[in-house]
Amino acid sequence: MLRTGEREVPRPGDGDVLVRVAGAGVNRPDVLQRLGKYPPPPGASPIPGLEISGTIVESRSARWSTGDVVCALVAGGGYAEYCTVPAEQCLPVPQGISIEHAAAIPETFFTVWTNLFDRGRLRFGETVLIHGGTSGIGTTAIQLATASGAVVIATAGSDEKCDACRRLGASRAINYHTEDFVAAAADATHNSGVDVVLDIIGGDYTARNLECLRLNGRLLQIGLLGGARATVNLSPILQKRLTITGSTLRARSPQEKGAIARSLHEHVWPLFAAGRVRPIVSATYPLAAAADAHRALEAGHVIGKLVLAP
Ligand SMILES: NC(=O)c1ccc[n+]([C@@H]2O[C@H](COP(=O)([O-])OP(=O)(O)OC[C@H]3O[C@@H](n4cnc5c(N)ncnc54)[C@H](OP(=O)(O)O)[C@@H]3O)[C@@H](O)[C@H]2O)c1
Repeated sequence: MLRTGEREVPRPGDGDVLVRVAGAGVNRPDVLQRLGKYPPPPGASPIPGLEISGTIVESRSARWSTGDVVCALVAGGGYAEYCTVPAEQCLPVPQGISIEHAAAIPETFFTVWTNLFDRGRLRFGETVLIHGGTSGIGTTAIQLATASGAVVIATAGSDEKCDACRRLGASRAINYHTEDFVAAAADATHNSGVDVVLDIIGGDYTARNLECLRLNGRLLQIGLLGGARATVNLSPILQKRLTITGSTLRARSPQEKGAIARSLHEHVWPLFAAGRVRPIVSATYPLAAAADAHRALEAGHVIGKLVLAP
């Protein structure tokens, strides 16, 4: 259950900044945390919220000053009026993006960037299959993959969501309720298969994802909405020299998150300034209505992200 309450303003430690929150992004992991399925890592705030934007009101780092306007990845505590964050996990609000909408950037951009390009080694001209194309993760992945020159095939649960995937840059969108995504991906690639699959479902998608991959393909498992267990035929891994990998972001050290932030600043922040990528925010709710935002996300009708504004 989500309810509002009063807490002391958190105190920044050495190397941290204190941010007066303008916006807090809502992510599926927040829903999982609320349901008791994704506990905060040791030392993290028990308050939900993995990303924020706002103004620095106290800095204990040489990197940022009071008055700087930032967006930041946090390990918890984002659904609040004030939040502390390690300085290296902050980035300036990108040019052309409002401070409120910038709250919807960090969690999915950090996650997609490090998985698609670091672990997945997605390259110009390759083809990537992105499941859940209109999720927060999916809308980010379609845009980043397209901007990098990859060909995107996306899956989604309705024709309206498929239209949204195409508008974001997918060359083919598959309504998985009416089409078999394995056959559709084969058709879209003239039976050669895709180079990378970015999957948030797991479960019985796993064997089918392996079927979709071509020689030297990579399966990136970053969510398990369809279940953590799978029975698969291992032969395609040998025959097609496949790689299966995955990662979580939240428990990584501030240094690791800082390295991803620096890479985003160098490679992705110019894409914001050029209008080639943006956070897809479908609605903003008052912070006190966070429970309504969770209900909307769980109902499955959201395209992109929701933001809470204190
Ligand atoms: N590993 C990491 O570092 C990391 C970081 C952030 C998020 N994640 C994970 O990525 C996933 C997506 O997060 P998000 O915040 O982008 O989610 P989201 O915006 O809430 O979107 C989830 C979408 O997944 C689709 N879906 C398909 N099967 C589903 C099922 N069984 N239950 C619920 N939704 C289902 C739905 O769209 P359709 O109508 O198209 O089916 C739904 O809208 C989550 O599993 C989350 O835990 C991982």
